Amino acid sequence: MKAKISINKNSVISKIDDRIFGSFIEQLGRAVYGGIYEPGHSTADDMGFRKDVMDMVKDLNVPIVRYPGGNFVSGYNWEDGTGDRSKRPRKLELAWGSIETNEVGIDEFQEWAKRVNSEVMMAVNLGTRGPDDARNLVEYCNSDTDTYYANMRRKNGFDKPFGIKVWCLGNEMDGNWQICSKTPQEYARTACETAKIMKWVDPSIELVACGSSGMHMPTWGEWERTVLREAYEHIDYISLHSYYGNKADNTPDFLAQSIDMDNFIKKSSEMCDEIKAEKGSDKTINFSFDEWNVWFHSNEQDSKMEKWQIAPPLLEDIYNLEDALVVGCLLITLLRNSDRVKIACLAQLVNVIAPIMTKTGGPAWAQTIFYPFLHCSRHGRGNALSVQCNCDTYDVGDRKNVPYIESIAVENENNELTVFAVNRSLDTECELELDIDGFEGYKVVRHTILTGDDVKMCNTLEEPNAVVPYEAEVSDKTVLPAKSWNMIILDK
Ligand code: AHR
Repeated sequence: MKAKISINKNSVISKIDDRIFGSFIEQLGRAVYGGIYEPGHSTADDMGFRKDVMDMVKDLNVPIVRYPGGNFVSGYNWEDGTGDRSKRPRKLELAWGSIETNEVGIDEFQEWAKRVNSEVMMAVNLGTRGPDDARNLVEYCNSDTDTYYANMRRKNGFDKPFGIKVWCLGNEMDGNWQICSKTPQEYARTACETAKIMKWVDPSIELVACGSSGMHMPTWGEWERTVLREAYEHIDYISLHSYYGNKADNTPDFLAQSIDMDNFIKKSSEMCDEIKAEKGSDKTINFSFDEWNVWFHSNEQDSKMEKWQIAPPLLEDIYNLEDALVVGCLLITLLRNSDRVKIACLAQLVNVIAPIMTKTGGPAWAQTIFYPFLHCSRHGRGNALSVQCNCDTYDVGDRKNVPYIESIAVENENNELTVFAVNRSLDTECELELDIDGFEGYKVVRHTILTGDDVKMCNTLEEPNAVVPYEAEVSDKTVLPAKSWNMIILDK
């Protein structure tokens, strides 16, 4: 198979917001306990954070981490995770049916985020709680005043405010699985008033309102329009969430699911712009795609999990090569839509549907999906350039004309040109012609490939390096192997 990718230096989609490479840690399963935090571990630092995990997070160069949920946040009393640890309450955690010890809360998490060179994206509880606790939390985290919650933070040992800039107004409030879910009207009013007073406490913060939990939700559309009509002037972003999976074991279809993400973003943009026009507003609402990933492997195991355990192994998807290819296609889709998607969070970061896995008391290793994220985060910052890709297509089920090659180009601040590409074909390699305009004298200087003999190959504790990228020999001919993720760097 042959394909041609045409790139023009002037076809800039957008300057990519670095926060598109964000991720997510929820107080769920072993994400925190046994994941980022394990005081008894041989690599633990002075606060009990695993340094081996921190090093891998630093490798991924994650600029922002959403916390503490997720579904968890809708039943969370943030004060439980602050102050004297010996006095913190142990509670029933209703979202995941676990026991929360509260050994880690915002006091510790904001410190962990600093240690991995990241920022916290904090969610407030609009389930069991509401505006009052949200504004108190903003005061606790961000205020420099001589007032109750700012002083409570000082008393807990943090003189300087945490300075958390991005806040989520609840989580998936449209879903009946959510603790105290809401109708569109209920949420819109609460989100609007909460947003207003959170910004009165700290006008510099940015706010993300909940969009629907996915396009499949019965109130999708009505939810967005209601929230936007009510809260437009008080919010900055609306959230998008979407998970993908190969439940039917149909790999060609699975690999094409990134097209659904593209469609989701496009349709959501249309809705935002419709309300913008209706309001005659100058402000554009952009997206925080703050939950995206492949998630399905662990569903069955989780349905059998015994309730009320501390840090049970929940949502521990073991990812294979085809999952990494889908994650690659999803990253390409996010970059292609970087004019509207300003924040995105790979859900999640450690142990829970995550690129990084740990054995409690043992080592940490990279899942297959670690690598496309690593490559994009390291080499995909700068200007996203649109690409014209001429390639063969395939049909699968109702999907017609799925391109075998999915691609995007990024010109970074060092004027390097990076092309990310997935070859969706399971059996045919692709000889790629790169037609670049405006990049005089550029040639391929690096071609990194992630592929394998079998799309079901994965990395495990026993075999952590079964699927790892390799450097292809650079020549005049660029070949994308069958079922491969590719990073191609061009320079003078
Ligand atoms: O990321 C796992 C869960 O998925 C989150 O808690 C929730 O927001 C979503 O349904």
